[in-house]
Amino acid sequence: MAKIMDGSELAKKIRSRLKVEVEKYIETHEKKPHLAVILVGNDPASETYVKFKEKACHQVGMNSTIIKLDDNVSEEDLISEIQKLNTNPDIHGILLQLPIPKHLDSEKIINLIDSNKDVDGFANENVAKLSKNQDALVPCTPLGIIRLLEEYNIMTEGQHCVILGRSQIVGKPMAQLMLQKNSTVTICHSRTKNIEEIAKQADILIAAVGKPHMVNRHFVKKGAVVIDVGVSRVNGKILGDVDFNDVEDIASYITPMPGGTGPMTIACLLENTIKCYKNLVIKND
Ligand SMILES: NC(=O)c1ccc[n+]([C@@H]2O[C@H](COP(=O)([O-])OP(=O)(O)OC[C@H]3O[C@@H](n4cnc5c(N)ncnc54)[C@H](OP(=O)(O)O)[C@@H]3O)[C@@H](O)[C@H]2O)c1
Repeated sequence: MAKIMDGSELAKKIRSRLKVEVEKYIETHEKKPHLAVILVGNDPASETYVKFKEKACHQVGMNSTIIKLDDNVSEEDLISEIQKLNTNPDIHGILLQLPIPKHLDSEKIINLIDSNKDVDGFANENVAKLSKNQDALVPCTPLGIIRLLEEYNIMTEGQHCVILGRSQIVGKPMAQLMLQKNSTVTICHSRTKNIEEIAKQADILIAAVGKPHMVNRHFVKKGAVVIDVGVSRVNGKILGDVDFNDVEDIASYITPMPGGTGPMTIACLLENTIKCYKNLVIKND
């Protein structure tokens, strides 16, 4: 039976460590790390995610501000909010909750966030730095997966990592990070042929497609490490990309859903905000 990679537990451990770190910073710099989250519209899933993020900030003693903007906010007004946050010395991290309404150009807007405050690591400057192995703000979900692999001492060097999904926020940065870990990386996507066969060659299989329970036992080699990123709502239930029950007797390690990559994403958002704080506040003191 596969060992569970408990993301909730590791996230708790990270929060405890960060709480101590934040207390120390407040003492020496008299300023709390402060994350600003911009939420456009009333998407219930986005509202829930934003609340989780706010709660996590408070758990470690950080400040959190949510800026709620109307569904039909103009691009000009949204940009002006971002510019205010960019120049506000009391704000250290800025996150634009995605998705945003279609009339707004998310690519353009994300790139207007000061790259030193880009806690999601989605802006071009951080994407480029990651691809060049330079110190970057790294997208939180892939970073959380790396933390999980490290916590469970999963060997990555020379291992074949197959990533299902090639998005800018999960698949591609995940591939960069696994290359940095000396894995041999294959990325699959919706046009990949024989995806089952390729997945079955993986020592580490990371599923980030958003297709509930797509990954069944036919995708998994005996002893593989299986990481589930997918989150889909089906008839009021939240399902991952991995059919956990079908796979758990084949995998060596597996993330649960919920309680796997989700809590780790938020823990890494806190880490990234503190990283921004350190660069912006401590370096200038
Ligand atoms: N756990 C977390 O904290 C967390 C964080 C972020 C996202 N998520 C979840 O992770 C999932 C992926 O998110 P995302 O933002 O990366 O999604 P996305 O932007 O929609 O990308 C999905 C990727 O999966 C590929 N894909 C779709 N159907 C496929 C199929 N049948 N076979 C193979 N590949 C297929 C797509 O291929 P093409 O490029 O060819 O279209 C695309 O590259 C979603 O369920 C999302 O909710 C979870």
